[in-house]
Amino acid sequence: MNTLPGDPHIHYREGRLFIGGIAADDLAARFGTPLYAYSRGAMLAALAPYQRALAGREHLICYAMKANSNLAVLQTFAEAGCGFDIVSGGELERVLAAGGDAAKTVFSGLGKTRAEMRRAFEAGVHGFNVESEAELEVLSDVATSLGKTASISLRVNPDVDAKTHPYISTGLKGNKFGIAHDRAVAVYRRAAALPGLEVVGIDCHIGSQITDAGPYLDALERMLDLVEAVEAEGLRIRHLDLGGGIGVRYTDETPLDVEALIRRLVARIDARGHGHRRLMFEPGRSLVAEAGVLITEVLYLKPGDAKNFCVVDAAMNDLMRPAMYQATMGIVPCTLRDGEPLRYDVVGPVCESGDWLGRDRMLAAAAGDRLAILAAGAYGMSMASNYNSRARAAEVMVEGERATLVRERESVAELFRGETLLPRGG
Ligand code: LLP
Repeated sequence: MNTLPGDPHIHYREGRLFIGGIAADDLAARFGTPLYAYSRGAMLAALAPYQRALAGREHLICYAMKANSNLAVLQTFAEAGCGFDIVSGGELERVLAAGGDAAKTVFSGLGKTRAEMRRAFEAGVHGFNVESEAELEVLSDVATSLGKTASISLRVNPDVDAKTHPYISTGLKGNKFGIAHDRAVAVYRRAAALPGLEVVGIDCHIGSQITDAGPYLDALERMLDLVEAVEAEGLRIRHLDLGGGIGVRYTDETPLDVEALIRRLVARIDARGHGHRRLMFEPGRSLVAEAGVLITEVLYLKPGDAKNFCVVDAAMNDLMRPAMYQATMGIVPCTLRDGEPLRYDVVGPVCESGDWLGRDRMLAAAAGDRLAILAAGAYGMSMASNYNSRARAAEVMVEGERATLVRERESVAELFRGETLLPRGG
């Protein structure tokens, strides 16, 4: 059996899996499956090492809400003092709907539209992380047309290898993200010359699910070199945004110690004489992944010559990570049962061979049992789709003994709301 990630908020008690103070099976009985269940305590516990490491210095932790954009999750981080890292107008509306502070929100992403920029000005975001020269020109144009000034950071591509899955590595040269390191000073110069823009910072994000401190330390050195080169041009860099990317434990990874890593980064920043700058981080996964599980019911066991399949009611549309990145995620029974475990591929009902949630898992299971896919709080529901006309799962937030349905299960009628039939005579 897979071991549980080291999270005291999600644990076994007398053979039953608990999310906070409530058994996963009880949540499933009450809210149905597939069901995303989150522990609010676990989210706050994941935030704590960031806060501890940054206490006493000017900083802003911007939760990268693409990881999980449920309003109650955003509310949790807003109440804890966080800002947000957003990548679309839709995410901005969610921040506002959740009571988040636009003034603590940074707008990242390489394809911002003019309409999204206008809305961000109207809401009063903290600033824009700009990813290309072309975007600078458009942002300048939008800002001047509104009589506003955009606070900008350039997202610089430091060309370091984050040593993670190619789909989630973003800091290398051949990548679509950021401004090439060797172009950055020239682009800063251009930014300073354009109307409606005020340079305030520098930003980088080198990838995701990073479990090695080396790439962060390398990226930091390259960023600080750049800051010095940019300031030598007479520009002022007020903040350093070091992005997100810290990995979590899905199976046997050894995640970085967040507090220790940040303390190392801060020590280096101070040693190089940059300690006066405001520090920003954009963590997503590390704040929410291990705080969530996807609870699913076993529909059928399908033994075979080559493979045994355990067919469950959650599928790739609910949790895309295994199909998309061949990600291995822990799968455990919600209630431990006696019986000889068998080797199964855990698969969903979607008509694709790529629709699997786990391969070669040893499980003692029977139809009607429930399983939990672990560390599913990040990039689970936020990447869910309606493929095969499957309505999306419900989400529940557990605080101690209280469970709140924070997103209703989608109804089938909602799936084709907005579609019409072709006009036919009459
Ligand atoms: N900042 C920027 C600009 C980003 O692009 C991302 C993630 C983050 C922050 C947050 O990174 P995190 O702390 O979550 O690693 N769907 C993939 C992960 C995609 C990450 C995209 N960018 C997965 O399920 O593994």
